[in-house]
Amino acid sequence: MNFTGANILSVEQFDRDSIAEIFATADRMLPYARRQKRTRVLDGAILGNLFFEPSTRTRVSFGTAFNLLGGEVRETTGMESSALTKGESLYDTARVLSSYSDVIAMRHPKSGSVAEFAQGSRVPVLNGGDGANEHPTQALLDLYTIKKELAYHGHDVDGMHICMMGDLKFGRTVHSLSRLLAMYNKVRFTLISPRELAMPDSVLDVLAQAGHQVTVTDQMSGSSDADIIYQTRIQQERFTTPQEADMYRGKFRLNSEIYTKHYKPNTVIMHPLPRDSRAEANELDNDLNQNPNLAIFRQADNGVLIRMALFALTLGVADIVDRYETEVPWFSDKRNV
Ligand code: CP
Repeated sequence: MNFTGANILSVEQFDRDSIAEIFATADRMLPYARRQKRTRVLDGAILGNLFFEPSTRTRVSFGTAFNLLGGEVRETTGMESSALTKGESLYDTARVLSSYSDVIAMRHPKSGSVAEFAQGSRVPVLNGGDGANEHPTQALLDLYTIKKELAYHGHDVDGMHICMMGDLKFGRTVHSLSRLLAMYNKVRFTLISPRELAMPDSVLDVLAQAGHQVTVTDQMSGSSDADIIYQTRIQQERFTTPQEADMYRGKFRLNSEIYTKHYKPNTVIMHPLPRDSRAEANELDNDLNQNPNLAIFRQADNGVLIRMALFALTLGVADIVDRYETEVPWFSDKRNV
């Protein structure tokens, strides 16, 4: 895949070679993310960071990644502060904002909206989540995390068993991650959800066509040999009313007792975050916080590396990042992590 100038809209545009290129580039970003080195390779470049739906990790890590490469960030957050509420089209918004920016990251509540926006953009557009559809940069950081966590235990993505749990209907991260994992060999999927929130057929079809073993269930038992448990949040914002989401909240919780009962000792625990820590949900309990298999914060950290890699690749500087290094004079506790 030729990344320079490309939009990143869907995981469908990748193959295993392009994923390997992104991950190799992400590996090279580690010294900059850890403040061991500094680069100004994107000095003068501007990221338009457009988030029309709430976000903490994706929005801030896109901005952080761009800053770490030496670029500047201009941000708009919330639909209510945008001229989209005055009836402006995504096309017009894209034409205007892409004149102000060298690359755009965007989140929007409507499926397909980021691709629609990209049609009017003159600069690369990176999808930060479009409705219940896709979250490709999250899927990349999830897969990057899975590879690293499994490698620590001497395993690989090919042949692994992943258990996805929670709201698999509206959870865009599991849609994108499943489509990425479909490119690997002999992955076993156990998909645990209330029947009404099961994985969409469009994703199940991709897994079936790729020959993977898929179990769809509303029971937690039967997945004791899982390598990864990927917990998700009930996506309240996709339901018609909050009361409808209440019917499913807290149905599939993971805490130390449940983890020990249902999973083998080294099963890696993942969650795209945010986790819903309210008592009625508490889908991933704080009593797992000291468990070394809890990878959720390593997962979130990896988001910066993946987004740095995507900026470096789409702006054509991935091979010259080290040419623009400068010293890091300040103290940073990240250096020795
Ligand atoms: N994982 C994720 O997309 O988190 P945010 O909603 O905080 O961006």
